Amino acid sequence: MCTGYGPPDVLELRDVVRPVPKNDEVLVRIRATTVTAADCELRRFDLPSWVWVPMRLWSGIRRPRQPVFGHELAGDVDSVGKDVGSLRRGDRVFAATGIGLGAHAEYICLRENPEDGAITTMPANLNCEEAAAVPYGAGEASEFLRKADVRSGQRVLVNGAGGSFGTFAVQLAKVLGAHVTAVDSAPKLEMLRAIGAHRVVDYSQDDFTDSPETYDVIFDVVRNTPSGRMVRMLTENGCLLMANPGFLQLIGAMWASRGTRKRVVFGASSGTSEDLAHLRDLVEAGKLRPVIDRRFPLEQMAEAHRYAETGQKLGNVVVTFV
Ligand SMILES: NC(=O)c1ccc[n+]([C@@H]2O[C@H](COP(=O)([O-])OP(=O)(O)OC[C@H]3O[C@@H](n4cnc5c(N)ncnc54)[C@H](OP(=O)(O)O)[C@@H]3O)[C@@H](O)[C@H]2O)c1
Repeated sequence: MCTGYGPPDVLELRDVVRPVPKNDEVLVRIRATTVTAADCELRRFDLPSWVWVPMRLWSGIRRPRQPVFGHELAGDVDSVGKDVGSLRRGDRVFAATGIGLGAHAEYICLRENPEDGAITTMPANLNCEEAAAVPYGAGEASEFLRKADVRSGQRVLVNGAGGSFGTFAVQLAKVLGAHVTAVDSAPKLEMLRAIGAHRVVDYSQDDFTDSPETYDVIFDVVRNTPSGRMVRMLTENGCLLMANPGFLQLIGAMWASRGTRKRVVFGASSGTSEDLAHLRDLVEAGKLRPVIDRRFPLEQMAEAHRYAETGQKLGNVVVTFV
């Protein structure tokens, strides 16, 4: 539980009452979850200035109103409410919690058909540790790419490609038939080639925004990249996708795209349960796979946060439950 905003030491392991599913909910025994950059940012409350106040009011002024973080999970359906039709006790499921969070716990109640978030049976070819890393990163990356209307043959650049968001963005853009350039630090480039990037750029050696190349879509997950320069690198109808833009980055992108046919997109959800089922099918078809770096037991949640926020992780950090 996150007892206040701050360093990983604010996290404490506590016993709470097991939730009871409502009529339209399932109770999931969680086997694995992840710690993402978004969990760490929420814990530090290190959010872009333009969302800081509304998010703080929503999240809790002195401490998080929802102290159990965690955006995604995999596990077993333990029991179901009387109105649930599509899931049964014993089903192996994976899910994105939406803004309700709560995946850093042994049990969670989720609606069978959530308005925000997604749940469905997990890919048959993954274990829970692998499946837990899919719903949030892949769900949001997929939504962003859909908004950009990525087509076969287009050129897509993913900036910050080696993390949990980027590794899915690279693979999903490739599934759509795009030529993918992945930008990240040197230790991640081999992995990025292995998951399908056609071209890789080490940002410590080359600033991709200095290059004369153009792209149909630039997917930026790094908050400090000069957005005006990225907009100028887009083709005539190109699209800039911004996962978590800072205020100046957002203004810069809007300003640079004014009077053009270029688009700037800066928000996406993790998609619906049908979308998650589509991602499951891609995983089962061997077209999408989660990249897993380290695994930590629940008792080492603070360690998992410390490691996740170094930025060194390849893909995802997973937390497991006994
Ligand atoms: N994961 C999600 O599903 C999700 C969903 C919604 C929003 N977001 C937001 O998207 C952002 C990224 O999330 P994430 O989970 O993918 O984070 P992450 O796993 O930490 O990945 C970020 C990647 O960016 C790289 N990077 C850092 N500085 C860079 C630079 N100047 N140029 C190019 N690459 C750079 C990092 O590598 P090095 O540290 O080695 O440089 C790292 O591989 C966060 O702000 C998060 O809140 C994420």
